[in-house]
Amino acid sequence: MSKTDLSEERGLIRKLLLPDGSSHSLSVAMASRSGSGKTTLLTRLITEARKDEAFKDVRFIYVSVKEEHLFKEKKLKPTNDLYKLFKHLRKNSIGIFYPSDPANYELEVDALIENVFQLSNSNPDTGFVIILDDANILKGFDNRGTPSPAVKKLAVAGRSKNIRGLYITHRIANLPRIMMGNLSGLILMSISSMDLDYSRKIFGVDFEPILPELHSYRWAYVDLISEKMDLFNPVKVV
Ligand SMILES: Nc1ncnc2c1ncn2[C@@H]1O[C@H](COP(=O)(O)OP(=O)(O)O)[C@@H](O)[C@H]1O
Ligand SMILES: [Mg+2]
Repeated sequence: MSKTDLSEERGLIRKLLLPDGSSHSLSVAMASRSGSGKTTLLTRLITEARKDEAFKDVRFIYVSVKEEHLFKEKKLKPTNDLYKLFKHLRKNSIGIFYPSDPANYELEVDALIENVFQLSNSNPDTGFVIILDDANILKGFDNRGTPSPAVKKLAVAGRSKNIRGLYITHRIANLPRIMMGNLSGLILMSISSMDLDYSRKIFGVDFEPILPELHSYRWAYVDLISEKMDLFNPVKVV
């Protein structure tokens, strides 16, 4: 049975995004083909989370290598300056960062993540969600690769600091192996059948039964802790 109304899915949104140190608060990955609605869906999920009281002390940092975002607030200005980003985050729950140097995207993202870890030391009651959209553009996002040191730290050590990563990629196989065992959830939209074998081998989960359902912006949440899957109808584009 597919579910539709995300505003009634508080539990799911907390499982996906709330950095509360619980067993479900490891990083999360979203994988599907280009143009299948990932950025639209994640924007909606974050918008819903920000309406939930449980997220009142959470800061969202949306990183887009492609320099695009779909958030509607006018005062939300993307920046490539970390100082400006963190200044903005003092008073706002979401900030947008566009890495600016293609030769050094990884260094810029690493600096951002290290800053968040430092900030979290001095603000232990604040949680952070770092969303890396189109992460497959970053070096190390493939199944044989090793992600940059700070991305690795985020995936491995983020939970105990109330920091979560959300990695958006085109293929499940774009996820570095180090992430396996360090993810509590997956969001799947239209995936390639080539990803099925990889998922069986790496996650021990068979996505074949849901593959035919994942089209036309339909999506699935896979709980990697309980190994349950839920199917969802497309979110409304606002
Ligand atoms: N749930 C949806 N219903 C209808 N159109 C959608 C939906 N999600 C995305 N789209 C449309 O599909 C296109 C690609 O969406 P986008 O979120 O940018 O995909 P991706 O991030 O996977 O490349 C956009 O034109 C967008 O408006
Ligand atoms: Mg996108």
